[in-house]
Amino acid sequence: MRVLVAGAHGQVGQHVTSIVADSSHDSRGMVRSEDQVEDIEALGAEPVVADLTADIGHAVEDCDAIVFAAGSGGDDVWGVDRDGAIRLIEAAERQGVDRFVMLSSLGADTPSMAPEALRDYLNAKAEADERLRESDLTYTIVRPGELTTEEGTGRVRTAADLERKDGDIPREDVACMLVTAIPMESTYDRTFEVLSGDEPIETALEDPL
Ligand SMILES: NC(=O)c1ccc[n+]([C@@H]2O[C@H](COP(=O)([O-])OP(=O)(O)OC[C@H]3O[C@@H](n4cnc5c(N)ncnc54)[C@H](OP(=O)(O)O)[C@@H]3O)[C@@H](O)[C@H]2O)c1
Repeated sequence: MRVLVAGAHGQVGQHVTSIVADSSHDSRGMVRSEDQVEDIEALGAEPVVADLTADIGHAVEDCDAIVFAAGSGGDDVWGVDRDGAIRLIEAAERQGVDRFVMLSSLGADTPSMAPEALRDYLNAKAEADERLRESDLTYTIVRPGELTTEEGTGRVRTAADLERKDGDIPREDVACMLVTAIPMESTYDRTFEVLSGDEPIETALEDPL
């Protein structure tokens, strides 16, 4: 299986790209700058240069699954977090790439309850998630709490609604979840929240709701 990672040079994306490259799958890392190509090769992946705000059809070609780990960092939430994600979903639809794993965010179910500064971002994520749910793709939408740079523990807790909007999780664990979920039918067409916890990642993904 060839897996396209959008946002491959990001903090989560680099973990995702190298976890896929170290697995039995082929890893293709999407970056928007030629300067990042060598870094993606060093992770063991095939680089592809593409910008989510422009044409991305060539990046999706011959892929079997997509992990969306890109994000604007607040700079262009409508252009990247919403429309960039939707552009990638539509490219997947056109090119018959059925599997799509989305890195979303805790709070994307209730943007109006978030602090003002986060509301546009969460609305953008919510609209992208909704477009994915309305598609015919086999999707998984993972909504983590605050991301840390701590070493991964491999242990999480998941639920459709964790009933809290705070809490954190290492990026490495989120990356591991995104990749582990790809072949797991128990995560197909599911949306769930995740924080650090006590359950091994694979066990949690067997019953993520
Ligand atoms: N921070 C949190 O606590 C938190 C919590 C929940 C969910 N999230 C979500 O997790 C995502 C990933 O987090 P992270 O820490 O890995 O972020 P990150 O390090 O900022 O990585 C985001 C990646 O997206 C890429 N990107 C941005 N615009 C793009 C475009 N137009 N075309 C192609 N690629 C583009 C960036 O490319 P460049 O390298 O070229 O800039 C970067 O590599 C966030 O964006 C957010 O949506 C974050």
